[in-house]
Amino acid sequence: MSKLLVANYKMNPRTAAEAVRLARACDAKNVVIAPPFPFIAAVGGVLKNAVLGAQDVFWDGSGAYTGEVSSIQLKALGVRYVIVGHSERRALGETDAMVNKKVGAALAAGLKVILCVGEPLAVRKRGFAAAKNFVKKQLIKDLRETTNYKLQTVRLSRAHRRGATNLLIAYEPLWAIGTGRAAKPADASAMAKFIKKLLTTHPSTPSSGPRGYSLPTVRVLYGGSVNAGNVGSFLVEPNIDGALVGGASLKPVEFKKMMRIASNS
Ligand code: PGA
Repeated sequence: MSKLLVANYKMNPRTAAEAVRLARACDAKNVVIAPPFPFIAAVGGVLKNAVLGAQDVFWDGSGAYTGEVSSIQLKALGVRYVIVGHSERRALGETDAMVNKKVGAALAAGLKVILCVGEPLAVRKRGFAAAKNFVKKQLIKDLRETTNYKLQTVRLSRAHRRGATNLLIAYEPLWAIGTGRAAKPADASAMAKFIKKLLTTHPSTPSSGPRGYSLPTVRVLYGGSVNAGNVGSFLVEPNIDGALVGGASLKPVEFKKMMRIASNS
């Protein structure tokens, strides 16, 4: 399967015209472009090969939620992928319980979800086992609704089955995001392998891990200071199915280089 590059523009650029210019320059297959909400329609209007993404979504379909945006509204704009649980949102107060509801709602609506997980520096300093444990706990909490048969309602069950193939995980260690200090590719690969195993295994006790689904198609992306100089070393790893790119996605020349490397990976 081809490797995926996801461009997360975060709260950039300033105008729709600039966002359109950026997106046009990087409009290629196996690229997802996630502009800020106000620019989604404009960017969606010019993409021919890349796919439209969003950086967040709310869990309810409609109602009195000032400032929120629903899966239905995103789908109506042509959005196919949504990033959920980015660490920058978690830092602003988004909890695992909220992430769990967002993942469930977005999958039920038929969106592809890029669920972000990753450990902070203090945890990583305790070693790889501690980092794995942190990520495992996040996945259990963030996928509770998606993986728990008992909580599954009849209305959601078909969507959840479909959703199983629509789930991607982005492993983004917090200490690597926006710092210029990317993880070591071998470490990121080991974590990706761990995540895949966790999500395809049926643990014997309900509390020991996400259960129920076997998710053979789950893709794992790496994110955190990915650039043209290091993207190849991540994408060459068989367990890493793509990259979630922040800062470098705002530099068209660099991102194009990354696209060339990705298409040869
Ligand atoms: P970065 O951001 O590439 O600027 O480190 C990655 C992300 O936050 O998804």
